Amino acid sequence: MIVCTNREDILRIVEEAKAVSKSIGFVPTMGALHQGHISLVEKSLKQNNITIVSIFINPKQFNQSEDFEKYPRTLNKDIEILKKSGCSIVFVPSYEQVYQDSSSIEVNLDGLDTVLEGKFRKGHFQGVVDVVYRLFKIVSPNRAYFGKKDYQQLLIIKKMIDYFDFNIEIVPCEIIREPDGLALSSRNTRLSSTERDNTKVISEALFEAKKIYRNNQVNIVKNFVQNKIEQNNFLSCEYVEICDPDTLKPCSSKQKALNKILLTAVYCGKVRLIDNILLDSE
Ligand code: PAF
Repeated sequence: MIVCTNREDILRIVEEAKAVSKSIGFVPTMGALHQGHISLVEKSLKQNNITIVSIFINPKQFNQSEDFEKYPRTLNKDIEILKKSGCSIVFVPSYEQVYQDSSSIEVNLDGLDTVLEGKFRKGHFQGVVDVVYRLFKIVSPNRAYFGKKDYQQLLIIKKMIDYFDFNIEIVPCEIIREPDGLALSSRNTRLSSTERDNTKVISEALFEAKKIYRNNQVNIVKNFVQNKIEQNNFLSCEYVEICDPDTLKPCSSKQKALNKILLTAVYCGKVRLIDNILLDSE
């Protein structure tokens, strides 16, 4: 496995690969890798000749400096995990290597960036677009892999691809969960063991909403989820929303919840966790 810190090295490797028609799969990450990331890498390994993983903690997408400072940094461990996964190349750029200019990338996101995470984390998605656009320009992948846990991010990246007419296939990947249902996230490592035990209520509420309440009206499902989560003293919801799965436009309270997506952000102490579930009948 090659570890590159220099964008010129990646540009050269990509050019050589493309010259002999090798396909490139790309998994952008901020490190602190877990099985969720590895599932993206494994999918990319199956579908491409070369898999490039980037590890870059992008300061522009953190709306709170404390969240940026506390974000887990485990580079050596990440590199070992990637070696074992069979990944070909890891790109670990400095800030200067990514941001050679400071301009913001302007994309019409059709309101996808103003709801849910966009409402509570001002500037977050602009930061994501700014970094992913630049990484795509360096890596020029045929396919790029994004987890459905960050569902809004996934739709925004798809929108950016359409907007710039990039020839990149965005491959959505399923949420990977702990045995008790908690969605894997790098932030989970910041939970104390008592907090960690209590966070299972989040996915329990989501699964129950899908199984028992999906044929009900939106307000009934939202109230059920919010009450179930907040009955736990460790948890408080920043939002529980049911939206159209393509546009993320919030549904009105009297609409049926079936086939809509339920998304939530929940604080457990100082740690903010997100999760979502499609309220379909599968
Ligand atoms: O999902 C993430 O880890 C980040 O938002 C991404 C896509 C790597 C951009 O920094």
